[in-house]
Order: sequence, then C-alpha cells, then structure tokens
Amino acid sequence: MLDKKIIMMLNEQVNYEMYSAYIYHKMQLAYEDLGLRGYARWYDIQAKEEMDHAKRIENFLMDSGEKVCLKSIEEPAETMDDVEKMLKLALKHEKSVTCKIHAIYREALERKDIVSLEFLNWFLSEQVEEEKNARDNIQLYHNYIGCGCGLMNADKKMSQREE
Ligand code: FEO
Repeated sequence: MLDKKIIMMLNEQVNYEMYSAYIYHKMQLAYEDLGLRGYARWYDIQAKEEMDHAKRIENFLMDSGEKVCLKSIEEPAETMDDVEKMLKLALKHEKSVTCKIHAIYREALERKDIVSLEFLNWFLSEQVEEEKNARDNIQLYHNYIGCGCGLMNADKKMSQREE
C-alpha cells in the first residue's frame, strides 16, 4: 500500500507528464510551421515519450491498487516561433520536471515508502538523460548555426532521432 501523499503527488505527475507532451506537441507544430521537419519529428517523438512517462506512473498506481485521477491539461502559454528560444524552453521545462520528480522522491524517502522509491529510481536516471538531450540540442544548434546552411544541417541531424 502506497503512502497517500505520494499517491497524490504521483497523480499530479501524471498530469505534468501529459502537460510535457502538450508542450512538445506545440513545439512540433511550431517547427512544422517553420519548415523544419527534422525538429518537428524530434519533438513528435519526445511528445510520445512524455505520454509513455505518464502511462508508466499510471500503471504503477493501478498495479498498486490505487486510482488514477486525470485532470485538465493546461495550455502551454509560451509563444513558439523561434528555434533557439524553444530549445532553451525545452531545457527549462526538463529542469522543472526534474524538480518535481526529486520532490516526490524526497517525500517518499521521508515517509519510508520504499516501493515508491524503487519505482522512482527509473525517473531519476531518465531526468538526467532528458536534461542532457535538451542541452545537446542547444549545443547542436550553436555548432551548426555559424556555418552556411547551418539550420538546415541541424534539422537534418534532428531528423535522425530513433523512435
Ligand atoms: Fe517526462 Fe521529459 O520528462
């Protein structure tokens, strides 16, 4: 049986992962508008990955005999029309996800909820990778942008993400 506060926080995290998917879906649409199909593909895959994260938490709650409570998903307020700003926004967002995962982990630690701690270990590692990916995308942009056809080459590179 899971701790009640942890159940509430995990339910909130389901919503936040879905909100993450919504942010990346909005980025996908923005990149399509900019004619950057490689970036659009990268963020389409990312949006699906965020839904997988939500599903992973849902499954954990259900497997533990708890209910999943779906809530409204907030509209991403940010204007998305600039590549560099979107890349930086992605990193800022991933840092916010990391903070939330750490907060749940600390709470589970305090409440000695060992089952949730074990479950959350995967998310700790995943967030290291998520922040790295966001930083790498910023680096790639800066590496290519100075050269002729830089953005087109960066877009080609982004299109190579595997599902
Ligand atoms: Fe589900 Fe990008 O963290």
